Amino acid sequence: MDAAMLYALRDPAGVPAHPVIFLVLGVLTWALHIAAVQVMLGASALTIFGAFSRDAHWRRLAAAMLSTAKVAVSVAIVLGVAPLLFVQVIYDPFWYTSNVLSARWVIGFIIILIAAYLALYTFYARNPDLARQPARSPWHLMLSLGLMLVVGWIMHVLSYQMLLPEEWMGWYAPNGQIDPSGSTLHGYSVTRFAFFILLSVAVIAAWLFAYRRYLMGRADEDAGYLAWLLPLAHKLMLAGGVLAVASGALWLATLPDKMTWFATSAWVWASAVALLATAFFPRLLGNKLDQGVWGYAPFALGAVALIVVGAAREALRFVTLMSVHGYNALDYKINLDWYSTVLFFVTFAVLGGVVLAYLLTVAWQSGQTKGIYTPSAAITRLGNLSIGLLVLWVVQFFAIGFYVWAR
Ligand code: HEM
Repeated sequence: MDAAMLYALRDPAGVPAHPVIFLVLGVLTWALHIAAVQVMLGASALTIFGAFSRDAHWRRLAAAMLSTAKVAVSVAIVLGVAPLLFVQVIYDPFWYTSNVLSARWVIGFIIILIAAYLALYTFYARNPDLARQPARSPWHLMLSLGLMLVVGWIMHVLSYQMLLPEEWMGWYAPNGQIDPSGSTLHGYSVTRFAFFILLSVAVIAAWLFAYRRYLMGRADEDAGYLAWLLPLAHKLMLAGGVLAVASGALWLATLPDKMTWFATSAWVWASAVALLATAFFPRLLGNKLDQGVWGYAPFALGAVALIVVGAAREALRFVTLMSVHGYNALDYKINLDWYSTVLFFVTFAVLGGVVLAYLLTVAWQSGQTKGIYTPSAAITRLGNLSIGLLVLWVVQFFAIGFYVWAR
């Protein structure tokens, strides 16, 4: 596939703002997406383990992790849409070709995701008191975790096939016979997928430190449970660090020839340093984990490490497509649209900021309150402001639409 062909597949309308904006936002939102995915996977795995334990602490943890997984899957899905939008804007020749080559799986992705989501909720509905009662219909949760991994695998294949334009013709017309069915997942790297999935062990460990610190803020919290959580989080962090380094090294050792430059690049060193720093950080903090906001610090550092890993993943794609295939994602034709660009950032900062601040404050405070939670007058005002801003946003959306249509 020569560069001219790849450029011909671009959207002739161009992009509405500088492509670097899409590139950077793609990395940042993907890091958030994968963080939520990893919390979801780790929390589901801990739930499966804890739900069958006779140990009261494990059962309590299972109940908490089930709630975490339930929310994390929604967050992962919502935050998956953002990188989906950005990748298809600046890498459309690659993303769409990859999607069309495996079209049935792209459609199946939604169905499998719905099934996984329903299985998780069925388990949740059938186990209203997991902390005290034996787990019912456990296979629902195992099925959910399995299907979530299939969903992740489909996303992995779509991302990976993008990087192999030299294979596209062979996949589309094997032995010269066109196969338009889109029924095959053609290109994948088990080691790359394993690396991103196994990172969830370290991520859920970081999450447990934060969970423990959060519980410490509650009055009369069970000290025995808090003491039990700490070594578990440390053990998981150690295991997560080892798994991340081992699976990462395997991925690098199995890179195809055209990508081997990546294995010794500064991107990989930066990622390794960030991941190892995250793995050792809780040990370094020691007793400080119980003080102030330090208990949340491992998760914050983990989030930074995931951004570094996300940037490295993007560098692998950007450089490979540019140096091997002559495609520069940053030289996309710009057809500047100030309105949509400003609207995007204002929505993100103002609407996103206010609504999220309200929801997170309510969730945080209610979780630390025993009995019925009543928000303060200031929080209620923030809630009303959120609703007002949402209404305003919808009104301006239709108003500008009608204005453009009537012009
Ligand atoms: C819930 C289960 C999910 C799992 C386990 C999962 C996992 C993953 C993994 C492992 C990758 C990295 C693949 C690689 O680079 O090799 C990835 C990428 C991606 N995921 Fe997800 N994902 C899930 C759901 C979703 C959903 C629901 C969406 C969209 C609505 C989504 C959108 C994306 C996109 C767009 C990428 C690629 C971004 C890029 O290449 O720039 N994912 N996902």
